[in-house]
Amino acid sequence: MEPAKPPVDIREGISVIFTEEQIRARVQELGEQITRDYAGGNLVLLCILKGSCLFMADLARAIALPLRMEFMGVSSYGEDTKTSGVVQITQDVSTPLADLDVLIVEDIVDTGLTLSYLQEQIHTRRPASVRVCSLLHKPARKVREIHIDYLGFTIEDRFVVGYGLDWSQKLRNLPFIGEVTDPSKPR
Ligand code: IMP
Repeated sequence: MEPAKPPVDIREGISVIFTEEQIRARVQELGEQITRDYAGGNLVLLCILKGSCLFMADLARAIALPLRMEFMGVSSYGEDTKTSGVVQITQDVSTPLADLDVLIVEDIVDTGLTLSYLQEQIHTRRPASVRVCSLLHKPARKVREIHIDYLGFTIEDRFVVGYGLDWSQKLRNLPFIGEVTDPSKPR
């Protein structure tokens, strides 16, 4: 057997932007607001994979209503940390969305290209209503206007990681949201 490698601290070289406590408090507020707004409705939370998985898991537990959960996989082609607006659905929902109150749960609205494409797609499925809940919004990079009904935090034009958001598919498991300040550190 190979000798054990020294453990890697994935938090090294990352500065915290929103702590676990700040995220927990904001998600709780959003959950309470959604609970009030959707009482008596037919709510389905639509998680946009992969970035929204942690947010959705916590948000669902902060909503005190009967609800469904659906998952949609999307990939946007572009260079490295930029989206191109060419979006491909890599995994579709498992139940029809017709007559349901769809709440799209996103990790971040950056240019808005992914979400504007997704909204068009979802409208063709004839849901009763469609709203957007996004953990983060980076208005500085807006290309398409997106109305965000439930927003966690607004951020500056920085590339953020953690709490579901990745950096080359890693760092999603950080419990906080941060910025990579030292890209040379092993992850
Ligand atoms: P948009 O189409 O430009 O709005 O970008 C949508 C997707 O790009 C998001 O759902 C994220 O997956 C990814 N993205 C945009 N900004 C960031 C970031 O700062 N960190 C990690 N992923 C990001």
